[in-house]
Amino acid sequence: MSGSSRGEFSSSFGFIMAAAGSAIGLGNIWGFPTQTAQNGGAAFVLLYLILAFVVGYPILLAEFTIGRHTQSNPVGAYQKIEGGKRFVPIGFLGITAVGFILSFYSIIAGTMIAYFINPILKLIGLNDAAAWVTSQGVSSNMLFASLFFFLTILIVAAGVKNGIEKWSSRLMPTLLVILILLTIYVLTLDGAMDGLKVYLLPDFSKVLDPQLFTSALGQAFFSLSLGVGSMLVLASYTSKKENLIRLGRLVTLSDVGIAFLAGLLIIPAMYAAAASGTEIFDASGNLISGPNLIFQVLPALFNTMGPVGILLSIIFFFLMVIAALTSTISMLEVPVSYAVDNRGMHRSKASIIIGLIFWAVAMTIALNFDLLFNFVVSATTQFIQPLLGLFICIFVGWVMNRNTLIQEIKQGNPEIENSLFMKIWPLFIRYVSPILILIILVQAFL
Ligand code: PHE
Repeated sequence: MSGSSRGEFSSSFGFIMAAAGSAIGLGNIWGFPTQTAQNGGAAFVLLYLILAFVVGYPILLAEFTIGRHTQSNPVGAYQKIEGGKRFVPIGFLGITAVGFILSFYSIIAGTMIAYFINPILKLIGLNDAAAWVTSQGVSSNMLFASLFFFLTILIVAAGVKNGIEKWSSRLMPTLLVILILLTIYVLTLDGAMDGLKVYLLPDFSKVLDPQLFTSALGQAFFSLSLGVGSMLVLASYTSKKENLIRLGRLVTLSDVGIAFLAGLLIIPAMYAAAASGTEIFDASGNLISGPNLIFQVLPALFNTMGPVGILLSIIFFFLMVIAALTSTISMLEVPVSYAVDNRGMHRSKASIIIGLIFWAVAMTIALNFDLLFNFVVSATTQFIQPLLGLFICIFVGWVMNRNTLIQEIKQGNPEIENSLFMKIWPLFIRYVSPILILIILVQAFL
């Protein structure tokens, strides 16, 4: 299929918004801040920053390059590049894994919708309904995850320019503005400064903890949407005039920047909540983390603020819904692009069918939440994503023709060939990134 019938971004801005939108999501806004607090504050921030640039960015650039070079999805890409045939199963693994990520993600994202609706229902006096939507029971989880799937399918079905580009370009700047305003407000609250200290001052007793390393790498992978093909597919819709190195840098910087900003919001907000009587530590003395953080601590904080709190609560959860939506569209897009490119399926039909398949997976997880949820989360994000990243390093660093690679990167960036960057990046892709991933993976099994 030709490039234009697959769809294409109409501008650099559109592509950056879509790629940054994919990267920036629930992983940044609830994942990063609490991991930071649990893993020694600033020590974790520093390590995460280093790993995002040392391991994440080189792989992101590799995905961008393969994607734009082949103008295809992960499976089609490996089929098209010489020596790639043996890697086709890796492409399929990516397509499947991203669907499972979409499935669990939609449950959390659905809960964000529920918390967004809750104060609105209360305002109009529907208190029972308000309590039900945020009960996080099986039926409310199923309802809101379904709603989230519906929104994701709608946008992906509309195509690259009218769906993904249009919505990412509107939603991402909105998210940034809301995040900054909310952070400034929270920093003025009582107790916020204690949180700021925890966030910014390293706890050196935790610096040597091996868990710190594992968490930081996993976070970098999940947060940058790596391995599963989202970035590869988005890059396949971008023009040969774009400078991939610059775009990759921008996406990495904005992902890391938003994570950092979210930390400035959430950790001080937790301590502000503590100052007004909310419990923020669990039984073992750790800061509450994961879904509990957002869903228990923050609403409790907002509740202490009267009418302002209601408004803040609506705004905050709206922000979470946006952040999640720009990520889930880049997830569904991966299998959809495979169906469109390789199976000749019509985009809207592919979006609906594939959307329904993973919706069924999401419903299965929701019905067996205690059994399946954590398992699917850790299998996909802590194991399969880094593993796929490792294979990308092997493919790009050791199998793919060096010249093909350089020619692709050179398009949109003609001076790059003899630059220092082009001497360093291959070293990272061949040695530094894969070795670090291997160490982490092996460590996780021990
Ligand atoms: N990066 C997204 C987040 O931080 C999650 C994601 C993972 C998106 C994999 C696409 C692919 O929330």
